[in-house]
Amino acid sequence: MSTDGLRLDLSECQVYTLKLGLRETTERLRQAGVPSPETDAREIMQRVANLSRLELLMRGEQPIKVRQLRHLEQLTRRREAREPLQYLLSPIEWADLHLNVSPAALIPRPETEVLLALALQTLQRWAAPRVLEVGTGTGALALGVKQARPEAQVMGSDISPEALALARRNAQLNNLDVAFVQADLLTGLSGPYDLLLSNPPYLPDTDRAEAQPEVSFDPELALYSGPDGLDLARRMCQDAPRVLAPGGTLWLELDPRNVEVMAAELRAAGWSAEVHPDLTGRQRFLTARQVGGRVNLDGR
Ligand SMILES: C[S@@+](CC[C@H](N)C(=O)[O-])C[C@H]1O[C@@H](n2cnc3c(N)ncnc32)[C@H](O)[C@@H]1O
Repeated sequence: MSTDGLRLDLSECQVYTLKLGLRETTERLRQAGVPSPETDAREIMQRVANLSRLELLMRGEQPIKVRQLRHLEQLTRRREAREPLQYLLSPIEWADLHLNVSPAALIPRPETEVLLALALQTLQRWAAPRVLEVGTGTGALALGVKQARPEAQVMGSDISPEALALARRNAQLNNLDVAFVQADLLTGLSGPYDLLLSNPPYLPDTDRAEAQPEVSFDPELALYSGPDGLDLARRMCQDAPRVLAPGGTLWLELDPRNVEVMAAELRAAGWSAEVHPDLTGRQRFLTARQVGGRVNLDGR
């Protein structure tokens, strides 16, 4: 089959075109059970050949160079092992940012771009808002806020030093001035903040058993949060009145299965709370403000 660890015989290279490479890669990914083999193969081939989507379509008959073939083989093997495509393509585009992704932090999801957009709408109320993102991971939300609102004072926190190191690298990559600090939720942080923004770990512990192989690359710390997925969100909301400025707002991303539960608990504690749908129409985002006096979630 191969020389040099390659599956293909290099003597075939003269006739081995981008189109053939794409076809074989798609088939290998399909056999490995990758959910979207065509899309992944195309993105891998675009990266290997350094071509846009359209260029790849137009230059299908172009022969693959040996160097490209080695790279293709390497990336295909990693994807066959169900390593997330985003690791292979890092840095990835998210919102208007370029983000390094790694097993140190959750790969920012497309739905979280909607949370960023919703939070930015709220931020129009302030000329120079003070913003805290809790559980920043790659830094995506904190950096997205700073990019859109350069005059904002933005801080990102995480309990994981590895995630914070990645977030700092991403701040450099995007040339954005955001402070990143290590903290267990709001412990040790004092504010006041006009906006508290978070996409905390929100999956119920029982979801572990059904996770796709790709999810095993995400750190557990980023995913699960107790029996109903709300342990961390509840703890953060309980402490939020201490750090929020008067009129300050909370924006959270939660699981569609538990977002209404959290909203109801906040309302019962004297907050006004609304839920908002993601792009598929599932309720996923929660915004809350304190009305009247400061009432804590636990009744204090
Ligand atoms: C779902 S990820 C979100 C990452 C990023 N904000 C995003 O939206 O892509 C949750 C993040 O919360 C962090 N985290 C978990 N427990 C925490 C805690 N007790 N205090 C602060 N951060 C925590 C994890 O390390 C992880 O980076």
